Amino acid sequence: MPLEQAHAIAVSRLAAISAQLEPLLQPTQSLTLEIGSGHGHFLTAYAQAHTEHFCIGIDLLSDRLARSLRKSQRAKLNNIAWIHADAGLFLQALPDKSLAEIFVLFSDPWPKRRHWKNRVLQPKFLSLLATKAVQGARLCFRTDHSPYFAQAREFVDQHPLWVLPEGEIWPFELATVFQQRAPDYQSFVARRA
Ligand SMILES: C[S@@+](CC[C@H](N)C(=O)[O-])C[C@H]1O[C@@H](n2cnc3c(N)ncnc32)[C@H](O)[C@@H]1O
Repeated sequence: MPLEQAHAIAVSRLAAISAQLEPLLQPTQSLTLEIGSGHGHFLTAYAQAHTEHFCIGIDLLSDRLARSLRKSQRAKLNNIAWIHADAGLFLQALPDKSLAEIFVLFSDPWPKRRHWKNRVLQPKFLSLLATKAVQGARLCFRTDHSPYFAQAREFVDQHPLWVLPEGEIWPFELATVFQQRAPDYQSFVARRA
């Protein structure tokens, strides 16, 4: 695809995300974001247990978002929204210092080395996420792919705007669809410095 066309598509997607986001944002409320929210089990349960938080789940797959929406509507939740968006574009649309919590659960591991660049958690992405997070915001990462876990942890550990405090507790347990399929998994909780 020619560069100009790709740029025009990104600009129009960004505008669509901003239009969805704007009515949801309240100046005093910080958000809980799940990146790659999949079938929506985790965030629906999280929103139900934390009615004082406003939660947004984003994913690239419309059918998963539709299922997520049905779940949260059945639960009659008014503190949750689902947005069809790529994580990088979504963060661009978000005002700075708006995230209090970010969950990245069983994100696609892209096992082949030549595909690692497609992993969500990368140094540049961590920088963008840091500008959108309030000081002390939690970044909760969980995966069943140990090489991705080691790499993501290393990137966070080396990043000047994120810290990995000892003894951080995983804030909320609810097995996602991919967690239910995983024989085991590893997690970390980082904080925005
Ligand atoms: C392996 S699934 C895990 C889904 C869910 N978190 C779970 O644990 O069951 C990864 C999800 O992330 C979504 N995803 C992948 N890359 C993404 C991106 N750049 N932005 C938003 N969502 C993404 C995929 O569409 C998919 O639904």
